[in-house]
Amino acid sequence: MSTPELGLPMVVPAPGLPARVRIHEVGPRDGLQNEKATVPTEVKAEFVRRLADAGLTTIEATSFVHPKWVPQLADAEALFPLVRDLPGVHLPVLVPNAHGLDRALALGATRVAVFASATQSFSKANLNRTVDEALAMFEPVVSQAKKDGLHVRSYLSMCFGDPWEGAVPVHQVVRVCRSLLDMGCDELSLGDTIGVATPGHVRELLTELNEAGVPTGSIGVHFHDTYGQALTNTLVALQHGVTTVDASAGGLGGCPYAKSATGNLATEDLVWMLQGLGIDTGVDLGRLTATSVWMAGRLGRPSPSRTVKALAGTAQPPKE
Ligand code: HMG
Ligand code: MG
Repeated sequence: MSTPELGLPMVVPAPGLPARVRIHEVGPRDGLQNEKATVPTEVKAEFVRRLADAGLTTIEATSFVHPKWVPQLADAEALFPLVRDLPGVHLPVLVPNAHGLDRALALGATRVAVFASATQSFSKANLNRTVDEALAMFEPVVSQAKKDGLHVRSYLSMCFGDPWEGAVPVHQVVRVCRSLLDMGCDELSLGDTIGVATPGHVRELLTELNEAGVPTGSIGVHFHDTYGQALTNTLVALQHGVTTVDASAGGLGGCPYAKSATGNLATEDLVWMLQGLGIDTGVDLGRLTATSVWMAGRLGRPSPSRTVKALAGTAQPPKE
């Protein structure tokens, strides 16, 4: 056990966990897409720069979706060039269709993400299409993106429960995951969009995915903390061998098209746990917390993250 330092957890490793975890930071996209007020483009760019400065190397920057559907991200064309040259940082962007991919390619994006749903209700609410119609829309996008040498992630929302349909059968999730991998996606992010998953359910889904030939190395997890389960579910996924975890700085976000989608797992809460377990993330918790305190000031309300609240007094924001 190492000596406790102010603002840092004591380090006590546990067996059966990875040495390193890649955090896929979704705050600027998943977090800000859900804000009532529109955040100025320059504030978003500064948010991305500060996250990079805190050591995050994968930062989902924005979405190339229809601006009427997500007005908060309508400035994607203005924002992306302000941040795209950050050294050592991947900046994936969401693209639902060929039009979105064209917009992203025109600005030099190198990583894109499509976003499917395991349920019909959310697919229709989010994409105006059934699950299979959405898969048919993604197929040419993924194939073109791969031809252009891009890294392609796919989200899969509602992997555990759905606000309209209730519990989501595991085989339904596995089928869509298989289709997404078969069309060429490099990575799948399993979304617990409304935060209802519990650890046994997570373990069962990961096991069934492996049995269907989906390798653990291609899986990331995307938990929401609605019922306080996000970290426990993450730990189960790490024990299963998952090494990519999505999180949102300060716990920002939800989803504008899902009733009851509250905050994403806060990146600070995740880093506190991983650091305590001796798992390397490359993230400086003090700088990250200072970033979320700064962003909370811009949004006019405190961060919901427990760790940000606990550390806010110790974080030293950079001088303005
Ligand atoms: P649609 O109305 O069916 O689109 O929407 P369409 O193909 O019929 O086209 C209608 C019009 O939209 C046309 O313009 C197109 O050009 C335009 P018009 O001819 O009428 O002037 N259009 C576009 N404009 C800009 N960019 C585009 C684009 N595509 C078409 N890419 C569409 C279909 C997919 C576009 C729409 O449903 C949409 O934009 N949805 C996005 C919803 C969204 O972004 N949701 C949040 C992300 S998902 C999430 O947060 C969950 C996640 O975090 C994981 C989790 O927690 O579960 C990922
Ligand atoms: Mg989310």
